Amino acid sequence: MNDFESFQRACCEQVDDALERWLPDEAAAGDLAAAMRHIVFSGGKRLRPTLVVAGALDVGGALPSVFDDALGAAAAVEMIHAYSLLHDDLPCMDDGQLRRGKPCAHTVFGEATALLAGDGLLTLAFEVLARHTPPGRPVGEMVALLGRASGWEGMVGGQVADLAAEGSEPDVERVRNIHDGKTAAMIAVSLQLGGLSAGAGAVDVTRLGAVGRDFGLAFQIVDDLLDVESTTEALGKAAGADADRSKMTWPAAVGVEQARTDARALVERALQAAAPGQATELMASLGTFVLGRLF
Ligand code: IPE
Ligand code: IPE
Ligand code: MG
Ligand code: MG
Ligand code: MG
Repeated sequence: MNDFESFQRACCEQVDDALERWLPDEAAAGDLAAAMRHIVFSGGKRLRPTLVVAGALDVGGALPSVFDDALGAAAAVEMIHAYSLLHDDLPCMDDGQLRRGKPCAHTVFGEATALLAGDGLLTLAFEVLARHTPPGRPVGEMVALLGRASGWEGMVGGQVADLAAEGSEPDVERVRNIHDGKTAAMIAVSLQLGGLSAGAGAVDVTRLGAVGRDFGLAFQIVDDLLDVESTTEALGKAAGADADRSKMTWPAAVGVEQARTDARALVERALQAAAPGQATELMASLGTFVLGRLF
């Protein structure tokens, strides 16, 4: 295991422990808790919590205390991510059957419970962020940033734009707008919340936002490419689903080869904006991780 892999593993372990503590169990909330846990503990890569910790390190936070300070934000972004996937797979959205190699929550618990489990995760995320941000950090600003990134101007708005674009002639600026909203906004705010949990000032928060938007767009381009080039078995979700639903993806707009070039260029630009210092190597490894799924 290299340094990055052990860092990533440590992030996953810490955030999994926190999620285990902060999510309701079945004794408290029956099927609602089971559905929330079904999506949260089904084998996600935990990229967004890892970016929270990376954001904290990027602005000078030191291990191991950054883990404690960033944990509320790390768990919160993963809860919102999990809810976004759960809703994304609902029959009224992408109509998925398989997620991380397991049946989607709505096929196990029914649509109503799955929908409400998503609502439960979304609201719990804000409670967790508010309760577990360390004293002295700008928790009000952090809650506001997370609300904006996950809401109508960010992930929710992007998901609406994604659905509205199904079947339309691909247009790269329109796809950029969709991807910025549905994916890059949450990736950018993950870095920013990590920075704020470690005392970042306004200049660093703006810079981390720009780094995250480039990383995030690259990440969604890679997801689009994998939908074309990978298999259902490898992905744990249906390959070819975007073409089946006539989604307006990056490769549909610019072609597969240009999409690969664009993903690489976006990661390079993100790395240039990441701070020189102790987190440089970590950010580079995150870039390799994002692209490594493809190249
Ligand atoms: C999938 O996100 C949805 C996108 C925004 C592309 P991830 O690829 O991070 O999903 P998990 O959590 O690792 O399954
Ligand atoms: C989903 O994008 C983005 C969010 C969940 C916000 P996709 O629809 O491409 O994600 P997958 O491919 O189903 O994981
Ligand atoms: Mg979708
Ligand atoms: Mg989908
Ligand atoms: Mg996809």
